[in-house]
Amino acid sequence: MSKTKVAVVFGSRSTEHDISIITAIASVIKPLELSATYEPIPIYIDKQGRWYSHPKLKDIALYTTGQIDKFLTKQKPLALQIGDGLKIFWPSLKPKSVKLDVVFPATHGTHGEDGELMGLLEMANVAYVGCNMPSSVIAMDKALAKIVAGHAGITTSKFVWFYSRDFISDNQEVLANLSVLTYPLFVKPVHLGSSIAISRVVNAKELLNAIEVAAHYDDKIIVEEAVKNLIEVTVPIIGNEEPKAAFVEQPVLRSGSMFDFDSKYLRQGKKGQAGAKTATGAQGYSKLPAELPKDLYEKAEQTAINTYKAIGCSGIARVDLLIDSKAKKVYFNEVNPLPGSLYAHNWKKSGMSNLKLVETLIELAQDRFKRKQQLTTSFKTTYLAQY
Ligand SMILES: Nc1ncnc2c1ncn2[C@@H]1O[C@H](COP(=O)(O)OP(=O)(O)O)[C@@H](O)[C@H]1O
Ligand SMILES: [Mg+2]
Repeated sequence: MSKTKVAVVFGSRSTEHDISIITAIASVIKPLELSATYEPIPIYIDKQGRWYSHPKLKDIALYTTGQIDKFLTKQKPLALQIGDGLKIFWPSLKPKSVKLDVVFPATHGTHGEDGELMGLLEMANVAYVGCNMPSSVIAMDKALAKIVAGHAGITTSKFVWFYSRDFISDNQEVLANLSVLTYPLFVKPVHLGSSIAISRVVNAKELLNAIEVAAHYDDKIIVEEAVKNLIEVTVPIIGNEEPKAAFVEQPVLRSGSMFDFDSKYLRQGKKGQAGAKTATGAQGYSKLPAELPKDLYEKAEQTAINTYKAIGCSGIARVDLLIDSKAKKVYFNEVNPLPGSLYAHNWKKSGMSNLKLVETLIELAQDRFKRKQQLTTSFKTTYLAQY
């Protein structure tokens, strides 16, 4: 029997383009090549948004050596056909095509993790891995995610959001709305990740500067109160109707700095804190499991699962929490619908190999797809006859 064709989509027009290449090749394609059931087909979206597929695109060296641009000049971008599932075409005199059984988005950030790709896959009516379109859209807007979680009774830090254009046209009104918040505050563009343009501010002058910076990056901004006595944890979750958590994981911070791009992605392989049980993953190193009192650990786990359900996630996501260790309060911070490297190191420690993880995700995608096909999508009306 031929293997199920799983298209692994990565790259795209995103600040996290390069991270996506690693997630796709190291955490999805490589393990899938060992699968007896599935066959990975790489689909690389370049920084201009063109789609390509070629067996060589599975080779990490093509990207690490910078040969990718030259390679692509000799390739023709794919054509897509949507309708009865998703078909990819290699244009030439004798066009070749493949119908995809499942799509595995391995894209991070804009034009991939934010719901856009999921919308295309919904239109094509093809099974795909991970969060669906609406949950991805909610997750990729820090304000929207907090509103939805808050509505479900999940604690978030007190926040105010506004459109950048409203601040630019009348900053007095926006500043007046912000006066309900107590310093120190965090200012964030709602759609970005990797700590880009995020500031911690302690007075009105800093606040004003930070908003100006954030407004350069995004059309929507959130300002929120800082959580005190901070312990940050992150909880990978898997599942559709009955989501399950991996270990609550505690990223180890560099003293005095935020969990920024540098510490998330560029500091792998360096030693963690002496004596701590640490693990190195795509996001630097961390305590795995987090060193928390049992009650707080369980509260973190439950908060993460509740948030996952409230936002409507499916397949996989990673929920980030901020804990006030003195007040023993757990705050929802943000949810990543497509965690870098799928957080495979944590799943491995939780007893799931990388291959088992990707195979499970594909099965969850197929299950969700089957259920959706059972929903009624047509409804007989006399509307046209009356026209
Ligand atoms: N309300 C807050 N209280 C305390 N620290 C915060 C708060 N919001 C963000 N931070 C710090 O800033 C970091 C980046 O913010 P986050 O919302 O996670 O954005 P990103 O998408 O860049 O990960 C967090 O990991 C945390 O260290
Ligand atoms: Mg974060």
